[in-house]
Amino acid sequence: MKPFTVIAHRGACGYLPEHTLEGAALAHGMGADYIELDVVLTRDGQLAILHDLFLDAVTNVAQQFPGRNRADGRHYAIDFTLSELKTLRVNERIREPAFPQRFPVGGNIFRIPSFEEMITLLQGINHSTGREVGLYVEPKSPEWHQLEGKDIVHELLESMAAAGYSKEQDKAYLQSFDMKALQRAKNELQSELQLVQLIGDNSWGESSTDFDHLRTKAGLDEVSEFAVGIGPWLPQIVDIEDNKPTDISDLIDNAHAAGLFVHAYTLRADQLLDKYPNLETALEILVDKAGLDGVFTDHPD
Ligand code: G3P
Ligand code: CA
Repeated sequence: MKPFTVIAHRGACGYLPEHTLEGAALAHGMGADYIELDVVLTRDGQLAILHDLFLDAVTNVAQQFPGRNRADGRHYAIDFTLSELKTLRVNERIREPAFPQRFPVGGNIFRIPSFEEMITLLQGINHSTGREVGLYVEPKSPEWHQLEGKDIVHELLESMAAAGYSKEQDKAYLQSFDMKALQRAKNELQSELQLVQLIGDNSWGESSTDFDHLRTKAGLDEVSEFAVGIGPWLPQIVDIEDNKPTDISDLIDNAHAAGLFVHAYTLRADQLLDKYPNLETALEILVDKAGLDGVFTDHPD
């Protein structure tokens, strides 16, 4: 069997609230190869582990800091210091009724970790278990941070280097939807880290990257000039409503031909079960038939 990479998406967020120290520890214990981390910058230039630019979906920020919202009603991490973020409580993302069986909302026992705390935790468990789990880090929305006057890619590369992740052989990937940010990391900021180009859908407005183009052979050749792999959205590989082999796209084969591996997002045991009889069938199709090299998953076990 060829090696398959299990990337714990936001920790073990099928079981514990996303991007918490507890979730990352569980993912490590479940045998993940990498822990996926999204990072944002705070007002005082610190890196915090958080998926959204704003805090409202997973914390009690509205109760804790009334009136600190922007015009759109949201409370943005970049408007708060790291010390302020540390006073918040993190809960399971409220996406009713998508994931009713996940960790119950309202326990108020989890906090937002700083990037430094997360690294300390993971390197400590790597040490105590003797099993090295890698980092798979995504600086969220570099273009948006730039508009806010902050260089998140530069800050992240500095912090990763300080923690021992700066070379190609280090067990870490830098991933982004923003192609220009990855090209800049390699060419201008001289990063030797392995880079992964995430591929979304142009309708999401994730960045100015043209994802339709990146999925073409010419686009994949361009990506191969700076990245070692791509991270497409699962429906770009298989039609998840129909598991016939003929529904597998040629994206994986074309990426492999361009010398790129393919790690798709996001496999969720509690979402796929509507479409497949079980997770094993889904993995059989994705790995054995489609040739996927790895997956971001909420259920790293
Ligand atoms: O980074 C891979 C996957 O996590 C991309 O989606 O929105 O969960 O960051 P998102
Ligand atoms: Ca991510």
